[in-house]
Amino acid sequence: MTTTDTIADTIAAQLPAQNPEGKLTGRVAFVTGGTRGIGAAISQSLARQGAAIAAGYAGNVTRAEAFAEEFRFTHADDGVKVTLHRGNVGSGDDCRRAVAEVIEQHGRLDILVNNAGITIDKTVAKMTDDDWNKVLSVNLSGAFYLSQAALAHMLERGTGRIINVSSVIGETGNIGQANYAASKSGLFGLTKTLAREALFQLARSGKLSDHSIGVTVNTVTPGFVATEMLQGVPDKILEKIKAQIPMGRLAQPEEIARVVHFLAADAAGYITGQVWGVNGGLDM
Ligand SMILES: NC(=O)c1ccc[n+]([C@@H]2O[C@H](COP(=O)([O-])OP(=O)(O)OC[C@H]3O[C@@H](n4cnc5c(N)ncnc54)[C@H](OP(=O)(O)O)[C@@H]3O)[C@@H](O)[C@H]2O)c1
Repeated sequence: MTTTDTIADTIAAQLPAQNPEGKLTGRVAFVTGGTRGIGAAISQSLARQGAAIAAGYAGNVTRAEAFAEEFRFTHADDGVKVTLHRGNVGSGDDCRRAVAEVIEQHGRLDILVNNAGITIDKTVAKMTDDDWNKVLSVNLSGAFYLSQAALAHMLERGTGRIINVSSVIGETGNIGQANYAASKSGLFGLTKTLAREALFQLARSGKLSDHSIGVTVNTVTPGFVATEMLQGVPDKILEKIKAQIPMGRLAQPEEIARVVHFLAADAAGYITGQVWGVNGGLDM
């Protein structure tokens, strides 16, 4: 046995054995934009670990209901529950109402995944105030409103996980994406501040112990992922993008989801305020 194994075993032995069946059994996760694309993969991935899912969406009812139907079919035997929550994450009122609705319907909220996001691509010269404000409000303000509401509940209970879905574009910038890049790099500062405040508040209320799974806040930064978001990108540009990715291909949504469920686990309790790249080596 290596030293690393010994340390891992010691830590595992100290963690509360709350999840004998699945790593997230008994947990409730709210995934915004959780009914299609990367969000749907995150919902399914957390559910496979045993978490009940509250999936948010903006207005595509057909896709949301199809997602819920497929989910219920897949989880007919394990009894893992799903609920749908419609709302605009760019509205503070919608966000507060959605978090209250999830807690009311599931009895708790353990994991918040701020995944909903949009693009309105134009060069800076052509970008209107409205193009700028819409993207910032959905991608950045939405994560703030939802985290604010969820954090109050998590701090009261002493446990929780918040995972923001940013983008490699937040690190590198991109022509035609000033609004998107700014919203996605804004998530880095939000993540680190939420992470610090969460631990500060836990310590102040005496809920931060050596054995606690704590309240952590992290960000995942996908590279280019094969979802509908990329469907508007012309094939020629997509080929150019792929040529720049050391891995030589787009990511599959499940490859992003894998990192999210890793960060959501009780055993990831010592990881907070971090930015996790999942980009095929794009930012090396
Ligand atoms: N695809 C990529 O290459 C890529 C790369 C890096 C980062 N990301 C990020 O990953 C996240 C998911 O991307 P995706 O490609 O899976 O997107 P997508 O396929 O376009 O799905 C977006 C999801 O967000 C929801 N949504 C959009 N606007 C909303 C709003 N105002 N309020 C509430 N929900 C809203 C949509 O709901 P409806 O179904 O009702 O429309 C949908 O469920 C985004 O934050 C995106 O920026 C994506």
